[in-house]
Amino acid sequence: MRHSHIIDLRSDTVTLPTDEMLEAARHAKMGDDYYCEDPTVNRLQELAAQKMGKDAALLVPSGTQANLISLMSNCNKGELVILESESHIYWYEVGGVSSVAGLLPWTIKSAKGAYDPDDLKAPIRPKNLSYPEPSLICVENTHNRHGGTVITADQLGQISSIAKQNNLKLYMDGARIFNAAIALKTSPDKLTKHVDNMMFCLSKGLCCPVGSIIVGDKEFIGRARKIRKLLGGQLRQAGIIAAPGIVALEKMVDRLRIDHENAKLLAQKISKIKGINIDINSVQTNMATFTLDSQIDDSVFLNKLKEQGVLALPMSKNKIRLVTHYGIERSDIEKASVIIEEALTGYDL
Ligand SMILES: Cc1ncc(COP(=O)(O)O)c(C=O)c1O
Repeated sequence: MRHSHIIDLRSDTVTLPTDEMLEAARHAKMGDDYYCEDPTVNRLQELAAQKMGKDAALLVPSGTQANLISLMSNCNKGELVILESESHIYWYEVGGVSSVAGLLPWTIKSAKGAYDPDDLKAPIRPKNLSYPEPSLICVENTHNRHGGTVITADQLGQISSIAKQNNLKLYMDGARIFNAAIALKTSPDKLTKHVDNMMFCLSKGLCCPVGSIIVGDKEFIGRARKIRKLLGGQLRQAGIIAAPGIVALEKMVDRLRIDHENAKLLAQKISKIKGINIDINSVQTNMATFTLDSQIDDSVFLNKLKEQGVLALPMSKNKIRLVTHYGIERSDIEKASVIIEEALTGYDL
């Protein structure tokens, strides 16, 4: 390996807390959050609700738990929930949507994460003795498996009107909502105003070690709080987690634009390499997803990268994801592209 440090492009979840976050955690004022007496948690929740333009917020341990709690808080067992077919909830959350929340997922394909409004007609059917009741539409913004693509305020508005016309709720898995807002040159509340409730993660590009936040109206958050307790997610002196969260919201949001620039640079560089197929237009935030020509064995390729200190994530056969984040500098992008090119030499491409 030629480089002293690993260039870890698997995910923005690998980010470590900043010194300021660690200091904030060390000095955090704490109390028992069961009694709503942790002042740091309360401050973080107020700040989060305000940034997202909603009444209330709830700190939970993970994005997966935030999604599960929100599904349960929005729906009754046996109801039908509309999910995008590549969504994180459907692919990567152990099927909690069915096994724990007791919901029937109806998946809809989309080009880059935003539903074509016409496609929502199939699951939203006229009432019938035989049909499960649809109660919720979910969107994911940015969309992970589509490569960090954004759903615009207009697209959300269209989906929201369909939800309203049919008396359904609209929920957003906004794990990376700040990336979406930055890419769209808007503020997150301009996006969240179209949804009834949503969650975002502190522990991805914002660098916190733990935590996600659910936001919505007071009633919804009240139910969510009880479900968090049911699922074992009620924490006690959670100020130690909330303090880095406050630093994240105040100091770490604007710099996400650097990650976006780096992802674009990386995409441009690797688009020139033979054997790699990448749609530069779909690199909208901090992810660059590409496919390898079929004659290349993806595990051999990934191992070659690893030997040279670059880590990448396989998404499915020959589809690979690279994610930029805090700690990845422009120089790492230059090095990683050279290593990727070298890993593909020797093939008849
Ligand atoms: C879009 C999306 N939603 C939810 C999650 C789940 O978050 P966590 O890993 O904190 O459970 C992730 C994690 O990568 C994600 O990308």
